[in-house]
Amino acid sequence: MGDYRQAYARSMDDPEGFWREAATAIEWTRAPQRILDDSAAPIYRWYPDAELNTSYNALDRHVAAGRGGQTALIYDSPVTGVVRAYTYQQLQEAVALFAGALRRLGVAGGDRVVLYMAMVPETVIAMLACARLGAVHSVVFGGFGARELAARIDDARPKVIVATSCGVEAGRVVPYQPMLDAALSAARHRPARCVVVQRPQQPFDLVPGRDVTWDAATEGAEPAGCVPVKATDPLYILYTSGTTGRPKGVVRDNGGHAVALRWSMEAIFATGPGDVFWAASDVGWVVGHSYIVYAPLLTGATTVLYEGKPVGTPDAGAFWRVVEQHRVTAMFTAPTALRAVKKEDPSGRLAAGRDLSSLRLLFLAGERLDPQTYEWAGDLLGVPVIDNWWQTETGWPIAANPRGLDDLPTKAGSPSLPSPGFRVRVVDPAGNDLPPGQDGSIVLGLPLPPGCLPTLWQDDERYLRSYLSAFPGNYLTGDGGRFDADGYLYVMGRTDDVINVAGHRLSTGAMEEVLAGHPAVAECAVIGVGDALKGQVPRGFVVLKAGFDGSGVEDELVGLVRDQIGAVAALRRVDVVAGLPKTRSGKILRRTMRAIADGRDEAVPSTIDDPAVLDALRPVLRSATNSPTRG
Ligand code: COA
Ligand code: AMP
Repeated sequence: MGDYRQAYARSMDDPEGFWREAATAIEWTRAPQRILDDSAAPIYRWYPDAELNTSYNALDRHVAAGRGGQTALIYDSPVTGVVRAYTYQQLQEAVALFAGALRRLGVAGGDRVVLYMAMVPETVIAMLACARLGAVHSVVFGGFGARELAARIDDARPKVIVATSCGVEAGRVVPYQPMLDAALSAARHRPARCVVVQRPQQPFDLVPGRDVTWDAATEGAEPAGCVPVKATDPLYILYTSGTTGRPKGVVRDNGGHAVALRWSMEAIFATGPGDVFWAASDVGWVVGHSYIVYAPLLTGATTVLYEGKPVGTPDAGAFWRVVEQHRVTAMFTAPTALRAVKKEDPSGRLAAGRDLSSLRLLFLAGERLDPQTYEWAGDLLGVPVIDNWWQTETGWPIAANPRGLDDLPTKAGSPSLPSPGFRVRVVDPAGNDLPPGQDGSIVLGLPLPPGCLPTLWQDDERYLRSYLSAFPGNYLTGDGGRFDADGYLYVMGRTDDVINVAGHRLSTGAMEEVLAGHPAVAECAVIGVGDALKGQVPRGFVVLKAGFDGSGVEDELVGLVRDQIGAVAALRRVDVVAGLPKTRSGKILRRTMRAIADGRDEAVPSTIDDPAVLDALRPVLRSATNSPTRG
């Protein structure tokens, strides 16, 4: 464990020295003299006096070093039948041109640009174009519906929105215009313009005065150079689900982000210049931001942008086809995607005929990696399977098996060891460290390392309240788990009402708000229940107002959540029930409901108001979780 232990110890004993050294891998327009600013603790800032441009470090720098002809991005889209590669030089030119187009539309440093886009190269180009200007992008995942989009527009207040005209799912085109129109009519904020990437599968009906096509916007635009920004200036805002309906605007700064991602790429992901890294995620999630776009490009590697699914595009051999075709050296996906592959091709027949010799490592994250999937993937591919645990807020792995530093054993069910920079603790409710083997809340001692959120978008107070107040001096991850005697961490699940559906982080609170908005609903609860494929799926329970008989209401509620939050919420089942179990003070016993639905024995809290309500609900909770209330 020599190198890992040494790196970890140094990052704890001398964090400023550790991150000063890591910062030398980045090209700064003003190199950092000061490393950590703790003057406003518990809000910390890394590299407070430094300046750089992230887009320069991701593109221009490699071109200037004579590597412009190397492939930067491979777009592989089985849903549209397109495979297209961009060299670093080509990507740089496309980014500079779109940055010029944005500038012509009035976008300047600090302005926000919301991207509501599918997995196409223009999305990566738009992100890097914003970074080039010092503007702040906020990508909204294409599977989200109008309500989620509107909430993000109102919070980020973008000058421009960039949208693709549609997404293409396996066997289904998803038009984005209805969602964008509905979001803009619901939102209070008005952007100056919408730039639309017209896709042939379903073009936009352009709204005069509002919409301009990507082609028209870039036509004759003056390519823009890189604008140096402060290391502490925001690079992007990525909204993530909290326990309430209002998403949290996680802010990422420029300097700490560039340093941490560049460092993680080699130390954790063992990927260097010229390697081919494929994160089969979506740019709408943090994994996509960090490991489809920024980290591979900051490193000078080749990244694969895959617009397809693990199954159905066209079959469960799609992943292995991509690895073979593009000579992928390291792949990153979510356990749920492998469970989907395993379900259709349990013996791995579709991998057998492929030349997968380029693949050195498989990384998995986004949800707990169950030991069965870990074993199956390792047996199938014959490469180390590396679980890594992190969240939108941290931007890079809190715990992993750092393949570039060391050759440490992996253990089924554990994302291995805390990454250098993260002071990971497992604590009891009073904040005392728990011994190995005992479950508690996982918290991170402050300061968090570079790359993690410095705060929430224009809301320091919410940042402090949500993350830093439960255990002063520590960041609350919201996950529970334990260490073993070797210091390996086991992350067992959320301790709050955030759920994880097919590797997608969702808020049951947001779904409850939508259900509660229906005129027939008196009260409701949404809980996450275990699911063999998706890890968890949501289920809704509603009590109707007097006078409503409930006919058809379950279907309507399922449809409402699909429209408002998005298909990705995957709420397929809502039950009308006579009552919801509560404490005497009126709090719904969601945890008890969850335990019963998952078939676990859990003591009924002594604070329960009326045990008969819970008894009446038991059979409904225990009924098959996946049978939809509508087709
Ligand atoms: N745009 C529009 N709709 C989307 C979407 C997007 N970007 N992503 C998902 N959806 C839709 C799906 O089409 C589906 O619609 P349906 O109800 O009409 O079938 C719905 O949202 C639910 O999607 P999902 O939960 O993804 O289920 P699925 O059955 O389509 O696919 C998996 C299951 C496991 C194959 C898929 O979830 C998957 O690949 N997961 C990996 C996720 C991942 O990589 N996460 C990132 C963390 S690393
Ligand atoms: P997100 O912010 O969407 O990346 O989701 C973060 C949450 O996903 C974490 O708080 C965990 O609950 C869960 N998660 C992500 N990776 C892992 C992992 N490797 N093991 C266990 N849980 C994980």
